[in-house]
Amino acid sequence: MPNSPNTIIAAREVSVGFEQGERRFTALDAVSAEFYAGEITLLMGASGSGKTTLLSLLGCLRSPDSGSIEWQGKSLSRAREPELMQLRRRQIGFVFQSFRLFPALNALENVMMPAQIDTELPATRADAEELLCAVGLEGKGSLYPRQMSAGQRQRVAVARALLKKPAAILADEPTASLDTASGEQVAELLKAAAKARGCAAIVATHDPRLLPLADRILFMRDGKIIARDEV
Ligand SMILES: Nc1ncnc2c1ncn2[C@@H]1O[C@H](COP(=O)(O)OP(=O)(O)O)[C@@H](O)[C@H]1O
Ligand SMILES: [Mg+2]
Repeated sequence: MPNSPNTIIAAREVSVGFEQGERRFTALDAVSAEFYAGEITLLMGASGSGKTTLLSLLGCLRSPDSGSIEWQGKSLSRAREPELMQLRRRQIGFVFQSFRLFPALNALENVMMPAQIDTELPATRADAEELLCAVGLEGKGSLYPRQMSAGQRQRVAVARALLKKPAAILADEPTASLDTASGEQVAELLKAAAKARGCAAIVATHDPRLLPLADRILFMRDGKIIARDEV
């Protein structure tokens, strides 16, 4: 019997609506999906299709209006904020389109930031240096974000996300601010994180150049998954 993939996060019929003036707008409509350790899943879809909203649920940044999110087999429906915060801090690496580095901190200090916030995180300066090497920034730890290219900054952000050895890495349009070559590098790093570190990498994008990297692709439109591809 084949091994069933190891589910890190599952979305079960999750819906999210927003009040827009008089009417209620459905941003996510009963979406179900599972995300597996060691795999990179792309959320593809036009702007407004619900990718960021789905990531915000998977990343415990908000709760669904209905349906549930399960993290490693446990429903979060009844989880309270301290537990969700712990999940975000310990288990989830976030990568954003705009990098979100601290401008006053150098690259190494930015990578170390999760350990500053969560002093019980078992991560050392040596770990941060090793991660900078892993993302191709050996010897660049003392550079400040303003001294780095966009691609280098995003690689710092990936290293920072990996410092906590997350179970999942969630990336929202991580290549949208990058040129083709650095976009490819960042995408390869996310894939390597899934393969070498066993993370579930979940990447929202409308960049078709990322398609060849994916293990699974969920195509979204109007708050629904309209097609699924297993590569
Ligand atoms: N905070 C919000 N308030 C109102 N509408 C929102 C909010 N966040 C998202 N939406 C709406 O939900 C839909 C899905 O948004 P989003 O998840 O950001 O899509 P995507 O990331 O695919 O571009 C969009 O139409 C957007 O306008
Ligand atoms: Mg978005």
